Amino acid sequence: MILLVGNWKMAPNKSSEALNLAKKILLVSKTYKKSIQTVICAPSIHIPLLAKNIKNTIFIGAQSVSGYEDIAQTGLLNANMIKDYGAMYCIVGHSEVRARGESDESIVLAVNSLLNKKVTPIICVGEKDRDAHGWYLSTVKDQVEKIINSIPKASLKKIVLAYEPVWAIGKEAKREATPVECREMIIFIRKTIADLVDAKSAQAIPILYGGSVNDQNAVNFIKEGESQGLLVGRASLDIKKFSAIMKNIVSI
Ligand code: PGA
Repeated sequence: MILLVGNWKMAPNKSSEALNLAKKILLVSKTYKKSIQTVICAPSIHIPLLAKNIKNTIFIGAQSVSGYEDIAQTGLLNANMIKDYGAMYCIVGHSEVRARGESDESIVLAVNSLLNKKVTPIICVGEKDRDAHGWYLSTVKDQVEKIINSIPKASLKKIVLAYEPVWAIGKEAKREATPVECREMIIFIRKTIADLVDAKSAQAIPILYGGSVNDQNAVNFIKEGESQGLLVGRASLDIKKFSAIMKNIVSI
């Protein structure tokens, strides 16, 4: 089963547009439900409406959550709230959230709080830049180690990781990553986990790829890139592109 996660980020502006798009995605997802599990990570304000109307076949997720549950935190939401809204997944540690100040410590708290509420965390790791000496590997290793060390071994099978090289994300991306770069990093992340826990646990964790995924490159990130799914930003807001991604990856 391929996990296909749409990260809608700060869009759409209107709840009617969100519902409309989600309904279209639901319709297409039904065709491919034997091979693809679709998740829509919507802005939190749209989650109750989507979770109420979009049942079966696809899951609704959130994009970020506070790891604190009972302290005063202006503007934040906790895992109890998103679970109550109907979110079954939540992205944690996205580079855009890390850039706004989310620390490794808050990421670890959020992951464990989500696991306690039985919401699946989709945890993003990835380097800002690549340097010729390979120091970027230690950045990713450090991110992975902090997360894995904080999770009880029995819960490791309940997480999803996403390798998202920051330089390949969004309109400002320097370039697309190649499937070989994706595969190397997925192997590296798994090896890091195997060294910390064991190979079996490392093998059981799905690792997605994210960063400028579109209908043209999606197949390669799964086939050659050996990712177990995709985290899709811009193309998940475009029903034609998102449907084409589904159609293409199901043919693998
Ligand atoms: P993008 O975003 O597909 O628009 O590059 C991916 C992400 O940030 O998760």
